[in-house]
Amino acid sequence: MNKKWWKEAVAYQVYPRSFKDSNGDGLGDLAGVASKLDYLQELGINVIWICPMYQSPNDDNGYDISDYQEILDEFGTMEDFDHLLEEVHKRGMKLIIDLVINHTSDEHPWFQESRSSKDNPKRDWYIWRDEPTNWESIFGGPAWEYDKETKQYYLHLFSKKQPDLNWENPEVRKALYEMVNWWLDKGIDGYRVDAISHIKKDFSDMPDDAHRAFIPAWEKMMNVEGIQPLLAELRDETFAKYDIMTVGEANGVKVDDIGEWISEEDGKFNMVFQFEDMGLWNADSKHGIDVRRLKEIRSRWQKGVEGKGWNALFIENHDKPRVVSTWGNDRQYWRESATAFACMYFFMQGTPFIYQGQEIGMTNAPFEEIEHYNDVRTHNLYFYKRQTGMMHDDVMTLIKATSRDHSRTPMQWDASPHGGFSTAEPWLRANPNHSWLNVEAQKNDPHSVLSFYKQMIWLRKHMEVLVYGRYNLVEMGHESVFAYTREDEHEKVLVVTNLGQHACWWDEPEDGTLLLANYKVIDPNQLYPYEARVYKMKLHQ
Ligand code: GLC
Ligand code: CA
Repeated sequence: MNKKWWKEAVAYQVYPRSFKDSNGDGLGDLAGVASKLDYLQELGINVIWICPMYQSPNDDNGYDISDYQEILDEFGTMEDFDHLLEEVHKRGMKLIIDLVINHTSDEHPWFQESRSSKDNPKRDWYIWRDEPTNWESIFGGPAWEYDKETKQYYLHLFSKKQPDLNWENPEVRKALYEMVNWWLDKGIDGYRVDAISHIKKDFSDMPDDAHRAFIPAWEKMMNVEGIQPLLAELRDETFAKYDIMTVGEANGVKVDDIGEWISEEDGKFNMVFQFEDMGLWNADSKHGIDVRRLKEIRSRWQKGVEGKGWNALFIENHDKPRVVSTWGNDRQYWRESATAFACMYFFMQGTPFIYQGQEIGMTNAPFEEIEHYNDVRTHNLYFYKRQTGMMHDDVMTLIKATSRDHSRTPMQWDASPHGGFSTAEPWLRANPNHSWLNVEAQKNDPHSVLSFYKQMIWLRKHMEVLVYGRYNLVEMGHESVFAYTREDEHEKVLVVTNLGQHACWWDEPEDGTLLLANYKVIDPNQLYPYEARVYKMKLHQ
């Protein structure tokens, strides 16, 4: 297998709005990120992915870009960005940025021109129609917005302030590639490529009767036929010219598609975020996790990608509620379940991503009122569900279970007001549990979630088998136990995690040496609720 720096890296995702406020305005910023680089370095991070920091009216917190080559005023200046990049590089780390090219903001000059008249040269840079179809936007409500001035509708898969670019137009693509290379020439180390499986639209046999029930547009616009030539051109005109890391957000991409998406011969990205087990846009309030399904899906990706491409491993991001509150148990087994789920995904084959706050076990926000939420998707959901007659309490139950704001509350640095994130009232309330759940409280505690993450990262750095070794699922006869081995010619490691709240009988292997555990005292004959252990095994030749 080809060795690459990005295969050996541990990545950390920063949501800049919520990471650290340096100037007391309640909003995180680039200088704030720079001030925490030592923390990230100490944790053992190699790559930082920073969510959009471009100029934006912030309808979708920066995922609606109005200028690709300017920094959001509230986040700082281009000098602050250059300084951040320099400081990251000084510490031997890399910085990848978010590339949002499925859509722009409606306030981007391209769209302003496009909407100005039907014969504007940029009219065709976006997708305009006389009649809307009955497609539903990913953020709820119709996917088409009527424009009074020119009496046509434009397509927006996300919010109405995020019009979709027309990727069929070569001028659009050229303009995007220039921008992509401009950043690469500046010295960034790669991209996380936003919503990229949506760029190709399939307009064939789509019902256009606007009065029929909504159909979810994105299902017809995820990884559809004809997307590959567009992705290949993007790769060839930009990424392929640099030694960088690319990870595509690939909702709807299946293991069978990996040849075209991420194989070493013909992949368009180094790796993708897959959502088969996380259902990126599903909005039901189901709690808990079907471990059997999780094992099946994650193992299918592990084996499917092995020897062909590379996985991006994650359990949290800025679009999902916190894992310890959804899959785990954030009350009785908070520390145990936070570390068990961590151990489950972290040692698989691929590049692990840690989302800010995950490393201290941050939990969902206790917001009860719709006013406490900020996310555009959450508010759209509220509006459209209420419109269809759903009761307030039922919508709130749904929102409390699924809102993206759960992962966007301010990072909890210490027990001071607002968790040490800011001296001012933050843009989104800090979780009150910052009084005990914070970096400061965990830093020197060898049994904290944070210390567990540090140990995991240390192990992955020091055992090549944990990077390149083969993966094999191990069935132990317990539904809630997710166990697997990593193995190469020299070494073998066994990872055992109980992802349920019941203890189960299990005999510790005789030829195993314990490397890591999330309980202080080990019972050789049973696994406790949410117990996680990692063993070095004897290799039997
Ligand atoms: C991606 C981002 C999400 C954003 C959407 C639209 O899925 O992760 O936060 O809202 O794309 O850009
Ligand atoms: Ca600030």
